[in-house]
Amino acid sequence: MKPQHVLSLADLSAEAIKGIIRRAIELKAMRQRGEIYEPLRNKTLAMIFDKSSTRTRVSFEAGMTQFGGNSIFLSPRDTQLGRGEPLEDTARVLSRMVDLIVIRTDKHESVETFAAHSGVPVINALTDKYHPCQLLADMQTYQEHRGDIRGKTAAWIGDGNNVCHSWMNAARALDFHLNIAFPEGYGPEPELAQACQDHITLLHEPRQAATGADIIVTDTWASMGQENEKRARERAFAGYTVDKALMERARPEAVFMHCLPAYRGLEVAADVIDGPQSVVWDEAENRLHAQKALMELLLVSAH
Ligand code: CP
Ligand code: NVA
Repeated sequence: MKPQHVLSLADLSAEAIKGIIRRAIELKAMRQRGEIYEPLRNKTLAMIFDKSSTRTRVSFEAGMTQFGGNSIFLSPRDTQLGRGEPLEDTARVLSRMVDLIVIRTDKHESVETFAAHSGVPVINALTDKYHPCQLLADMQTYQEHRGDIRGKTAAWIGDGNNVCHSWMNAARALDFHLNIAFPEGYGPEPELAQACQDHITLLHEPRQAATGADIIVTDTWASMGQENEKRARERAFAGYTVDKALMERARPEAVFMHCLPAYRGLEVAADVIDGPQSVVWDEAENRLHAQKALMELLLVSAH
């Protein structure tokens, strides 16, 4: 039987996503009560990280520890991957030894290639195209603060990047609307935009996108791997900072979201990310609970 991989939110049904959110909220409460729950005893998670990470790495490692399992962090610097061993061979070998594999790398196609040769589930921990784990945590966070997201409006302000693509997939799956405001040339992938067209509106005017929104969300203007475009991007994104004036266009009960790491004074003003509408620390914490729910779904509930 082929393992179930989660390379994008589109690999999960709307029901599965809602189930993960519900379960993440339960797992969070269990942890707050100090309840020990170790469904992954004797299980091993391999984590291949080709790019930097604070939240994703720590949440997967801590989650695995809390579930009674073990995790192995693999940097290409220290494995044969860095010396040219093919992804296909690495996938075949690792999946004979471990139960689950998490990968963060640049090209989305690399994760697809890896998954095609893996005998165990593979989870995308961020590629140039998608960041599905982030959206599971973000959807849990909205649910906790404001309830059902169905029928609400979110406004993405900034780069049409990997996180934006996952917000688009979330809008389609959970039936909310996403206004995306971006400077010319920095929009989301046209193919995905086409597939999500009933749930998104593409704009170039941040104020128009933010007006009446229930959520304002942004991300860095220069993602990992785009460091040498930083200057040009700062010029292109001038006027796209989420500041207090922009937040005032949204509904009074609107929340501000950001996957982090954030760059205060660029994509977001300090008084917004550190202000009363910001839920970014809950988003970060929920990476732990949402990914535990995902691991449980892939390794426990599936059997
Ligand atoms: N949001 C997120 O994925 O953070 P890290 O890069 O620190 O993992
Ligand atoms: N878009 C950012 C997200 C970091 C979590 C990046 O890819 O670097």
